[in-house]
Amino acid sequence: MTTETHPHTSDGMKVLLLENIHSSAHEFLEENGFEVESLTGALTEAELCEKVRGVQVLGIRSKTLVTPRVIEAGKNLLAVGCFCIGTNQVDLRAAKLSGVPVFNAPFSNTRSVAEMILAEVVMLARQLGDRSREVHAGRWRKVSAGCFEVRGKSLGIVGYGHIGSQVGVLAEAFGMRVIFYDIATRLPMGNNRPCGSLAELLAQADFVTLHVPATTQTHRMIGPEEIARMKKGAYLLNASRGTVVQIPALAAALKGGRLAGAAVDVYPEEPETNSDGFESELRGLSNVILTPHIGGSTVEAQAAIGREVAISLVKYIDAGSTAGSVNFPEVEPALIPGTHRVLNAHRNVPGVLRDINRIVSDMGANILGQVLATDSDIGYLVMDIEREVSEAVSTAMASLPTNLRTRVLY
Ligand code: NAI
Repeated sequence: MTTETHPHTSDGMKVLLLENIHSSAHEFLEENGFEVESLTGALTEAELCEKVRGVQVLGIRSKTLVTPRVIEAGKNLLAVGCFCIGTNQVDLRAAKLSGVPVFNAPFSNTRSVAEMILAEVVMLARQLGDRSREVHAGRWRKVSAGCFEVRGKSLGIVGYGHIGSQVGVLAEAFGMRVIFYDIATRLPMGNNRPCGSLAELLAQADFVTLHVPATTQTHRMIGPEEIARMKKGAYLLNASRGTVVQIPALAAALKGGRLAGAAVDVYPEEPETNSDGFESELRGLSNVILTPHIGGSTVEAQAAIGREVAISLVKYIDAGSTAGSVNFPEVEPALIPGTHRVLNAHRNVPGVLRDINRIVSDMGANILGQVLATDSDIGYLVMDIEREVSEAVSTAMASLPTNLRTRVLY
């Protein structure tokens, strides 16, 4: 797909997809020349060590552990795709030091989370969770006290990234006034308005929705002081990370009537499996919507994840692009017609580039394009050189003591 002027490097390469990855990935990889084997379950370390030997690309979700032993066994492994958000299941450093980039799909479920937040804003304003529970229990409680339209109300978004800004767009369609606070300068969507501080946002918003990442700065970010700054009768929504909100402070504010409701999707401690029980001080409180970390869980998000990771893998295999990798320096080089591309991952020590450039110049070859990105451990180099000498150049590069991986693309 990326190499209109060059052949597919992926032709005939083998991909192993585990854990019932969405068919969108299988289809896309096959369209791009890969031989794909899809299995429904995860594999044990021993099974995976056996299977990984024969494949160039491994696709997993959250249950497959990619340990240093698996990486070691994957002599032909070129890349790993995590068809999910988290990448804790992979030893990212071991992969990196073997020259294997790992890709994931952090933004495929953005819209799913944003839609759920909007639904919850209306549900909280109308106490729909409680009414539904009552009618299910055989109680007919037709009330309007404490129930509001969201039109004209202000929505305060904390963390105006992928999800936060989508929430801002959707909320305006409901006629809400949208304000946001972010530590980075963000371009406001529509009529969304930035606030200078979190305190300013908390004092103004009828609804506060959190869309920040888990960092030391956001750890327990919303506690008694922040809740005290919120308007009386305001609502709090958290579908970001469980560590951001101090649950006892939230429970106290709800019980005392300081807040009129809350919607919580993420918790400081979450059950490991669907058969584990769930405990929280928030259970049983009125006008509190509790969901089991499903903000991003939709059919559309799964399909988008399948496609997004598959695209990243094809772009890496066919063109050397590491955009979207979680453990490799990021490079997205343009294709230069009529050239021969060599990829090289090496330990980041002084003098590597000098050695590589000497190899190329000693062979009288011309470098037509060269992109290098580094982190503290490795350097990743994409070189476009003259066709005739590329095999010889790559063999010499691969024999340098600093070499981790060298691969000729075309
Ligand atoms: P993002 O990285 O696009 O946006 C996060 C924003 O928060 C950035 O603009 C960043 O500058 C800002 N930020 C960071 N620290 C801040 C601070 N101290 N105060 C104010 N702003 C701050 O992330 P994205 O994709 O929008 O995700 C947001 C959160 O949603 C993440 O925590 C993610 O884990 C969570 N999430 C939850 C899902 C669910 O199922 N409930 C699904 C997907 C994401």
